[in-house]
Amino acid sequence: MKLSRAPEVANPFIVFRSVESLAGLTRRAALLGAMTLPAGCTAMFPVRGTKLRAAARSSGRFFGAAVQAEQLRNDSLFRGVVAQQCDSITPELELKWGVIEPAPGRPVFAQMDQIAAFARTYGLRLHGHTLLWHQSVPGWASQSMVEAKDWNIVGRYFAPVMARYSDVIDWWDVVNEPIEATEDGSGDCLRRSVFYEAFGPDYIRSALETARAIAPRAKLLINDYGFEYSGKDEQFRRKGLLALVDALQRRAVPLDGIGLQAHLDLSREPLDQMGLATFLKEIADRGLLIQFTELDVREADRSLPIPLRDQAVAEAARALLDVVLDQPAVRGISTWGLSDRYSWIDVDPDGRRHIGRNRGLPLDVEMQPKPFWHALVEAFSGRPSTGARAAAVIFDQGQET
Ligand code: XIL
Repeated sequence: MKLSRAPEVANPFIVFRSVESLAGLTRRAALLGAMTLPAGCTAMFPVRGTKLRAAARSSGRFFGAAVQAEQLRNDSLFRGVVAQQCDSITPELELKWGVIEPAPGRPVFAQMDQIAAFARTYGLRLHGHTLLWHQSVPGWASQSMVEAKDWNIVGRYFAPVMARYSDVIDWWDVVNEPIEATEDGSGDCLRRSVFYEAFGPDYIRSALETARAIAPRAKLLINDYGFEYSGKDEQFRRKGLLALVDALQRRAVPLDGIGLQAHLDLSREPLDQMGLATFLKEIADRGLLIQFTELDVREADRSLPIPLRDQAVAEAARALLDVVLDQPAVRGISTWGLSDRYSWIDVDPDGRRHIGRNRGLPLDVEMQPKPFWHALVEAFSGRPSTGARAAAVIFDQGQET
């Protein structure tokens, strides 16, 4: 594992010594030389026994979760849980173009640097989410891309961001959510985003080639949602994504894998396990790796007793995990948040937050494991995958229990 760190960035987590009293962090922190433990500290972390990270490793995979810098800054319990349970963290907001470069040529790295410092301190990997996403493009960039149709606008944004975190980011979601099916599945099933408008369908090839040139060793992904159910839309979306992959591969475009978001929804029909298994095989047969990048579960009926709700969430997760962990090309699973204390599903469109309203993540608001957490541990533990293990060496594969 690479241990290099960005020397010019102050590490704000050095001051949060209390987190180091959490069980299991001693070895990692000592390895990194980042901090010392206060004498006589006691383990405070409420999740005892097997860790998700260890269970994932026993399956040759990694486990990750999306986090925000603010959550890490302000919540020491959450910090400890993330450091203890995860191999990898995904910045939920901080790496998106709209956040990084609100004004042209003046990137703002402060929030992202905090997440990167946390990852470096605890030896976690960072998932590079995301370079091109139609929902987070600064206004100035949309305008100049469409007007000037100059790819250098994109290249000038990729270069400093990818270079700055090259020591901790191994995987990049280079293009996020490029697929959008028409009602009858006709056409190329590519979203008519601002990138498409400015550069045509070739923007995906250009993005991957630019990313490869800047980060030759990173794994480059296309990340998207909406493949898990049996509806027509999902079928068209699967077909559209495979057609896109085929077109890219015909032109030898650098693409290492596919990220599947997996935002599950209990108001939908049951998961299409057969269809999903076939789809994963079709991706794997094309020589690509797979990550599940944003797993969470939106509840349908929040009036039920909590044990029933948690059971339903866990069952949905288990139905997915049972399929995906049978596929050796699946290298890791990340949840979109780790605790119900922080879930994007609890934020209304007007920005109002209802903490713990939805119970769709592995830990509850008190950081206690729920049936979803146990479903993950059990699913990982039951499925050692030698194929995946061989390729998971980009993560520290030290033994843990
Ligand atoms: C979401 C964040 O969770 C929200 O906090 C933010 O307001 C909007 O973006 N698919 C993605 C993620 O790829 O980047 C989105 O994250 C959730 C859907």
